[in-house]
Amino acid sequence: MKFIVDQQVEDIELPENLRLNTFLQEFHQDCPHPECNFGFYGFAFGQSPFHVPQIMQTALQKNSDKGKYAPVPGIEELREAIATYNKHYFGMDIDPKRVYVGPGTKELIFNLFEILHGTVILPTPAWIGYLPQIRFLKKNYHMLPTKSSRKINADDLKKLALRLHDRQKILILNNPNNPTGLLYSRLELEEIADICREQNITVISDEIYAQTTYDMKEFVSMGKIYPEGTFVTNGLSKSHAAGGYRLGYVIFPQYVTELKQQFKKILATEYTAVSTPIQHAAVAGFEISKEMDEYFEITRRIHEIMGEYTYNAVTAIDGVKATKPEATFYLLANFNHYSSELAGSKIQVSQRFAESLIQHPYHTAIVGGDSLVLERTDFSARMAFVDYDGTKAFENYKNNKPKTASDKLEFVKTNAPRIVAGIKMIDLYFQHIKKNASSKIECKFDSLRVPG
Ligand SMILES: Cc1ncc(COP(=O)(O)O)c(C=O)c1O
Repeated sequence: MKFIVDQQVEDIELPENLRLNTFLQEFHQDCPHPECNFGFYGFAFGQSPFHVPQIMQTALQKNSDKGKYAPVPGIEELREAIATYNKHYFGMDIDPKRVYVGPGTKELIFNLFEILHGTVILPTPAWIGYLPQIRFLKKNYHMLPTKSSRKINADDLKKLALRLHDRQKILILNNPNNPTGLLYSRLELEEIADICREQNITVISDEIYAQTTYDMKEFVSMGKIYPEGTFVTNGLSKSHAAGGYRLGYVIFPQYVTELKQQFKKILATEYTAVSTPIQHAAVAGFEISKEMDEYFEITRRIHEIMGEYTYNAVTAIDGVKATKPEATFYLLANFNHYSSELAGSKIQVSQRFAESLIQHPYHTAIVGGDSLVLERTDFSARMAFVDYDGTKAFENYKNNKPKTASDKLEFVKTNAPRIVAGIKMIDLYFQHIKKNASSKIECKFDSLRVPG
């Protein structure tokens, strides 16, 4: 039987994360070199390398008998735990009734796009998840390039908003930021909030990396600065290394009532509620405990060490610049210094750059600029520094905390040799590109061959 797919779905491009996954798998299967057996140096996937905290695992087991549907916005204990968590870690006073739980922040952001009228303002570079959703919902959108600072500039935001004649605009603020690892200061947020008030801009503040901020004193939620106009989203995926649990939450702006009813309608229509046992596990993850506190502290210290190493090592490559991460497990490396040499090797767009770096002998996966909503010819790339055994690194850190710079270097070498080797491969790649030796790159796929 032949099924006819709805045109709306046919028109959607494959989201970049899926495309990347498929590409890597296919490449891996078809690569003739024995080195391919080990896979690749993985700077592409943004997944926390750590274990799910033990108290969450225990809570999940204990609650496996909870077979009843949960209330649409989430079980009460969880909404309360999330409110307490936000107060404890982010200094935010929120009524638990403002918290709605959903199957991941990605879904909740999609639901917010569904209910909120208005043109979307998307600062670039951006996380690869937003654009396919915006396109799927056929929303109007405008990019807001962040230029060299890689952060939203309030004047540019105002200029763009003045050109948009929609009654309402929706700004996607991702703080801390994927792909740059950068953090907005209180002052920067205040400047953005002033423009938002003036121009009637609603903010979806995706703060899924908040808990990974290396210096927690520096993190300020937009929900505190612009409480009347901000939807804050966060979840278990990054801070609790539980992306597979599929649980996120949104904190509604202050003084909103009717909208919450509309939102509830959407959630009830689309997924009823998040799995009840998972919600109980999440209670353990959001409640304040010594175990969770230690978990957050150790994981953020390790992210910081890996981030510092990756930044230093990649910027030590001649001509390469990068954002210096202050949170998350990403940085944005800028390889544009090599634009003309890359063009000499017939690599004119960033997707080809990412594809050529995965080939033998480099075996290195990064996310190219076009997947980050940058110009196709911008050779910037996101590098995630998570390719190591997080459980082992966690134990090693706990048993023997690296203190000095050389302890930290040793920690990276011992715990994350693939990060070290992967960056060496990037260096080697550019040495080859420089010498125009790229004709030596062999690949089974003609379409991916990098001509000399
Ligand atoms: C910026 C950002 N927002 C949202 C998500 C998705 O989070 P969740 O797993 O809660 O859907 C990700 C995951 O990579 C992300 O990087």
